[in-house]
Amino acid sequence: MKVAVLISGRGSNLQALINACKADDFPAEIVLVVSNKADVQGLERAEEAGISAINLTPKDYDSRASFDAAMNEAIQKSGAEFVCLAGYMRLLSDDFVRTWRDKLINIHPSLLPAFKGLHVHEQALDSGARFSGCTVHFVRPAMDEGPILAQAVVPVLPDDTPDTLADRILEQEHKLYPLALKLIAQGRVRVSAERVIITDHNPPQGGLVNPVS
Ligand code: GRF
Repeated sequence: MKVAVLISGRGSNLQALINACKADDFPAEIVLVVSNKADVQGLERAEEAGISAINLTPKDYDSRASFDAAMNEAIQKSGAEFVCLAGYMRLLSDDFVRTWRDKLINIHPSLLPAFKGLHVHEQALDSGARFSGCTVHFVRPAMDEGPILAQAVVPVLPDDTPDTLADRILEQEHKLYPLALKLIAQGRVRVSAERVIITDHNPPQGGLVNPVS
């Protein structure tokens, strides 16, 4: 399955996907990386891996719709059949989300539907929650909403700061995102009545929680 990855920065989740795709038996291939920010580490990671990478700058476009249309055109041209958001920090237009419905996933560093939006780890700490984690979900027009595909749980420790919690969750993100993409590329995932159905997947834990690498 040919995949495009949209990024805005560091690109550590992109790197996790690049690494996973290197395995001969991994059923997906990244054919394009698009960043809405110039000079970010994620673009360097793509170039190092020999993947086509482009930067589209929002201020070169007169609207969100025209920016997203240009992005869509680049993705279509690359031959990508599926799109992963990996730290993509820009709201997508309804049109783009509709075009890629059920072919567009995101990773978010909390156990959705808890703690949407920004300052996610501060929100988790302020709430007093004992656990946070990360979620891979299909994208819908509302931010951080959509059918949940996979989650990993991470404990919140008494002396956690937003940064220490973020680091521990990020480790799980790097396992969870490749697993989610693999299941999709294997054709085991479908969305029905806004629920994700995964067939023929029996992890030892009996659920998609804290997947082993
Ligand atoms: C990750 O925590 C991801 O869940 C969130 O933004 C962060 C991106 O990190 N959406 P990176 O760019 O993948 O390193």
